[in-house]
Amino acid sequence: MIVGNWKMHKTIAEALEFLKKLPSGLCAEDIYLAVPFTALSSVADAAGTKLKVGAQNVSEHKEGAYTGEISIRMLKEAGATFSLVGHSERRTYYHETNQSIAHKLKACLQQGFKPILCIGETASERKAGHTQAVLEKQLSEGIQGLTSEEVLCLAVAYEPVWAIGTGHTATAEMAQETHKLCRELLKKRYTADIAAKIPILYGGSVNPNSIEQIIQQPDIDGALVGGASLEVDSFVKIVTIAREYKS
Ligand code: 13P
Repeated sequence: MIVGNWKMHKTIAEALEFLKKLPSGLCAEDIYLAVPFTALSSVADAAGTKLKVGAQNVSEHKEGAYTGEISIRMLKEAGATFSLVGHSERRTYYHETNQSIAHKLKACLQQGFKPILCIGETASERKAGHTQAVLEKQLSEGIQGLTSEEVLCLAVAYEPVWAIGTGHTATAEMAQETHKLCRELLKKRYTADIAAKIPILYGGSVNPNSIEQIIQQPDIDGALVGGASLEVDSFVKIVTIAREYKS
């Protein structure tokens, strides 16, 4: 499962230019693209079966007086099938908490909309030896109250904050260790079978050079790609390499 996150990049025209260059042989099964709200509808129309289109954030509320927010129903109508939830940039700049993230996950899953829960520690948390505690808290508080059936539609993305946009990917061993930890926690909460079925993606400076090592790890089921998803060439290379190892 490869997910591109365009963040606040690309107008509608630029997004359509990207779609036009995308090879027609791609298949939507395992390729996801989280685009800005404004480009959702146009990209979903143009994407056809090439990829799944989604949002980068979603409201936990169904509708009402929430200025500036976008509901799941609005996203679905625009052609989105999934949303990132709790990206570290939203936690840092917009003060999203584990509790509000849990509400968003529940709302998505109750309305048949796939959420990708993002978790990750900062450089100082890692340095202080708090990585495990931080991730356990983000993951367990995020998924609180989800039934077995609901959690099976979830994907988790581990994105160490210090690796995002820095060019410094976590080593494959470091990422595997953390992914294993997440898998164990899911196993404890649910069952080994359920834990094995939930995709856990790695994110943080993934590019065509780093994906090969990362994707070979047993508990890494895909990648969440920021910068390298903005160019067709690098995005398609990542998809192609990942498929070689995981198909
Ligand atoms: P980069 O791939 O640019 O480091 O971004 C990662 C990310 O935040 C994806 O959600």
